[in-house]
Amino acid sequence: MKGVILAGGLGSRLLPLTKITNKHLLPVFDKPMIFYPIQTLINAGIHDILLVTGGNHAGDFLRLLGNGSEFGLAHINYTYQEGEGGIAEALRLAEYFAGDESICVVLGDNIIETNIADSVERFRKTEKGARIILKEVSDPERFGVPVLEGDRVVKIEEKPSEPKSKYAVTGIYMYDNTVFDIIKTLKPSKRGELEITDVNNAYIDRGELAWDILEGWWTDAGTFSSLHKASNLVEKTGANKL
Ligand code: G1P
Repeated sequence: MKGVILAGGLGSRLLPLTKITNKHLLPVFDKPMIFYPIQTLINAGIHDILLVTGGNHAGDFLRLLGNGSEFGLAHINYTYQEGEGGIAEALRLAEYFAGDESICVVLGDNIIETNIADSVERFRKTEKGARIILKEVSDPERFGVPVLEGDRVVKIEEKPSEPKSKYAVTGIYMYDNTVFDIIKTLKPSKRGELEITDVNNAYIDRGELAWDILEGWWTDAGTFSSLHKASNLVEKTGANKL
């Protein structure tokens, strides 16, 4: 399995912080944000990693991360997203890198307290379909929200005004290689983007979506308050614990 980190976008919810740098290079307590998703993959035993970025400050990732020696990596792969097409459009750029392998995708602004090693291990047993990770939150309307029937996710709704469960779909996804065929069938959403939620719903329609609940805290860091919260959580308890 290979790892993909999506770290593009204009970070417009964090202007003016993102006027002169990429969102994922901003500090979360004592490290640049991008360090956390890299560590998430490494802690799950995934060392072959592609970083998808874009926008005006892409070169800064290379200066910061180089070949990943700080993380014990021999090499990091990079690719560049032209324009603003959404998460699933950014993921499409990983097709060449993935070859015929499955992938674990982490959004560059998602930070976790613990690790995803058990989930990745479960997915590795079959490497078929998709596996998502859910976390109970107090503000599900900000995220993709699963509609549950018993222990089955029957649908995921993107930022619903009336969430049908108290869970968020975290930005950590495992996909088999057919994800790239699914992306090619997607149509842009109302906000003009190819949505990752539509990818996950396509797996649900095939009866091939599994899920786990994440242990420990999870947060995104793409708004002022979540960025602040992320720093506080990392300071208080540390992140990416084994
Ligand atoms: C994205 C996804 C959403 C998911 C979230 C996790 O939202 O669209 O389904 O719950 O990431 O961080 P965004 O933060 O890009 O609006």
